[in-house]
Amino acid sequence: MILVTGGAGFIGANFVLDWLASSDEALINLDKLTYAGNPDNLSSLEGDDRHQLILGDICDREQVNELLARHQPRAIVHFAAESHVDRSIHGPADFIRTNVDGTFSLLEAARAYHEGLSGTDKTNFRFLHISTDEVFGTLSPADPPFSETTPFAPNSPYSASKAASDHLVRAWYHTYGLPVLTTHCSNNYGPLQFPEKLVPLMIANALAAKPLPVYGDGRQIRDWLYVGDHCSAIRRVLAEGKPGETYNIGGWNEKANIDVVHTLCDLLDELAPGKQAHHRLITHVTDRPGHDRRYAIDARKIERELGWHPAETFETGMRKTVQWYLANQTWVRKVQSGDYLQWIDKNYQQRHGSEA
Ligand code: NAD
Ligand code: DAU
Repeated sequence: MILVTGGAGFIGANFVLDWLASSDEALINLDKLTYAGNPDNLSSLEGDDRHQLILGDICDREQVNELLARHQPRAIVHFAAESHVDRSIHGPADFIRTNVDGTFSLLEAARAYHEGLSGTDKTNFRFLHISTDEVFGTLSPADPPFSETTPFAPNSPYSASKAASDHLVRAWYHTYGLPVLTTHCSNNYGPLQFPEKLVPLMIANALAAKPLPVYGDGRQIRDWLYVGDHCSAIRRVLAEGKPGETYNIGGWNEKANIDVVHTLCDLLDELAPGKQAHHRLITHVTDRPGHDRRYAIDARKIERELGWHPAETFETGMRKTVQWYLANQTWVRKVQSGDYLQWIDKNYQQRHGSEA
């Protein structure tokens, strides 16, 4: 069996669902259920004894020690994090606590557990750390995409906290011999993403005929990957990755934010037509402080060494995503609770808007 952290969040829940759809290996899911963790994401697994959701904090060493001793997992897949850049700007402390202290605590628990293993249990154990392309900082238009050897240059409290955790993971390999793997992935989109992030926020606002708040000129570039493809890459790295190595994961889909928003409006005009085109809702608002201009991922290493490449194109993935949100409006309404509304007020109230 494996231990997953943060498996009630967006990518973690997709990973858990995909894992159990393609394997009978059981999974323990340790999640603090912050605002971003949602047990409803896993409701289809009710009664399935291959999955156990444990309410807990990765910072709680005793709890993690106890889980490892009781369940004897062959691997830890570490998703748990505070993940939203704008929230990290408003309140960085939680990011340092979970992403840095939490990863440290988990590494220490994993180290003690690994040292107590023997034989093939010890050789085969893996600690897979899920990181982000944001640790590499920002690119100019002519720069080559981030490779595994691009130096770290994080620009937000979120990316700095993830970079710090990546350094700890690396050090636990070199110093203690913990068999770690790290992945750096680009922007994910797809089912179950909390509607504070660009794609689900734009879909939810467009359906409610609310403004679509594009930061600054909207020409910032991200590389977009369908979440199911990220999950298949993680499974591949876990199965075949070489301890101590890092792997970049991306979709070869560099798009300007404004073009992503237009794509979503086109899809909504087709799949949920209103009286007027959704494009009219696009509003340019005050930019994000320290906003990285461009991310791009060179994903040739994982393709060359592990034979992974994405199954979805940007067009097929976005269409599936819009269809999922249209079919799951109850899920969206449920997560748009009081706490969500307070966040929307906090983040968007002081941003001055102008129509496109
Ligand atoms: P998310 O915010 O949707 O989910 C995070 C999950 O972690 C939630 O279920 C939350 O309850 C849990 N969690 C938070 N603090 C915890 C703690 N102290 N102990 C236990 N559980 C805790 O995040 P996501 O978008 O699914 O991202 C998952 C991971 O992937 C993160 O490490 C993130 O840095 C990384 N990542 C995300 C993207 C993306 O586009 N979303 C891209 C690359 C990498
Ligand atoms: O690159 C990987 C990262 O992608 C992950 O590590 C993060 O966890 C994940 O949140 C994501 O970070 P971004 O900051 O790129 O994602 P977000 O969806 O918040 O924003 C995407 C782009 O859209 C970014 O350039 C900011 C812009 N944006 C975002 C929001 C929420 C807007 O223009 N308007 C908005 O309202």
